[in-house]
Amino acid sequence: MAVDPEVGFTADVIRDPSRFVGRTELIRDCISALNSATGLISVFGKRGVGKSSLLRQIQQMALGEYTLAKRAGLAHLIPARPRTYLTVYYSCDSLIKDGKDLLARLCNDQNADDSLLRLIPNDGKEIVEFTRSKEVSAGADLKVVNWGARGVESSKYARVVADDVVQTFRNFVTSVVVHQVHNRMKRDGLLIILDEFDVIENKEGLGSLIKSLTTADVKFAVCGVGRDLADIIEDHASVERLIEQGVLAVKPMPLAEAEGIIHRAAELFSGEMRFEPGIAARLAELGQGYPYFVQLIGKQCVNEANARGTNLVDDSVLTKVLDDLRSGKAFPTLESAYQRAIGESEGRQILLHLLAEQPTEQSLFSDEIGRVVLKNTRQVAEELDIQFVNQLIPRLVEKRYGPILERVPERQGVYEFVNPVLRQYIRLRKL
Ligand SMILES: Nc1ncnc2c1ncn2[C@@H]1O[C@H](COP(=O)(O)OP(=O)(O)OP(=O)(O)O)[C@@H](O)[C@H]1O
Ligand SMILES: [Mg+2]
Repeated sequence: MAVDPEVGFTADVIRDPSRFVGRTELIRDCISALNSATGLISVFGKRGVGKSSLLRQIQQMALGEYTLAKRAGLAHLIPARPRTYLTVYYSCDSLIKDGKDLLARLCNDQNADDSLLRLIPNDGKEIVEFTRSKEVSAGADLKVVNWGARGVESSKYARVVADDVVQTFRNFVTSVVVHQVHNRMKRDGLLIILDEFDVIENKEGLGSLIKSLTTADVKFAVCGVGRDLADIIEDHASVERLIEQGVLAVKPMPLAEAEGIIHRAAELFSGEMRFEPGIAARLAELGQGYPYFVQLIGKQCVNEANARGTNLVDDSVLTKVLDDLRSGKAFPTLESAYQRAIGESEGRQILLHLLAEQPTEQSLFSDEIGRVVLKNTRQVAEELDIQFVNQLIPRLVEKRYGPILERVPERQGVYEFVNPVLRQYIRLRKL
């Protein structure tokens, strides 16, 4: 019988703590950040490195669900009475222009499990407790099962102030803190988690906005692609005093942890799919620190094993998956990003491979990891008789074709792969 690959592997954000692997240091920092009365939590790192998955675990811990921390051997760090929260989770998008726009979105989002609006008491609105994981100890959050007949705007508990979104937001938050956080659920605070914070177009003033809204009852967690806090909050100076404990840099996964993804999957499959010794190490190596790739290849291995009618992922299964990857058959999404980037130009294809394969110096400056220097490749390209390198580059940095590369503004001729997973894909793909 075919085994469902999703039992052990997923390309989605990890919500379920039992699927979350590694990151012990970060979990430790999360415990202390959540348990300090005031303060901002900031999570940043490269694309696809595992930020949102960590955020979902922060959400679990905020509800008092510490199974993950206990499993990671951190039980001694959990306070006897941990601070607990009700939570809001919102993923930003690039149509959000600025801080006011963001608050307007937060005031209007109707997600039944994660929105702020769901928590505002209202005549007729039905709000029930639910848990976000299967763990028996799971802490409860609230969700809306029925918005009520009078619509979502007509709450008598939180006044909407026309043309003043900041005040409306404050009113909403106050209402939620009084009625739900303190009275109903007896929690310490409200945690507002904002993912993809870096895509907000005009970040001016966001830091001071968050600072003014942060109190002993309201904590923010912001997350985005970036190398440091300054990449996600421009006016970071205004939040500097808030962030003593909450700076969480998500780095590529160490090999041993990435191997852990396969071991965890094997557990989740509970014997229905097995992995030959050595396979985990090879998959970890292929992932180059990006758990997404490990999940993706793992999943494909299970599909291949299914097709062969076996329940053992061995060398020959993996070899077939890698052959399919090389010829562009295994991962349609990555393949189409690759094809869109090269745009039927053989020269650009070769150039892209040369750039992807450029060894990344683990140099003195950790910033340099993942960067490529055009100059180093230009020479090889010219030896290979690729003409007009300068004309091949623009498509690779153009937004509508990916973009694949991003210029590093402060350094001439230096580029960075926007999506490290795609870079690794290109490395493994046949020219
Ligand atoms: N700790 C983990 N254990 C196992 N798998 C993980 C872990 N963290 C992330 N993954 C896997 O990696 C992939 C990317 O994770 P996630 O979406 O959290 O990254 P991200 O940094 O938020 O990405 P993006 O920059 O695209 O928003 C997912 O497939 C997820 O299943
Ligand atoms: Mg994410």
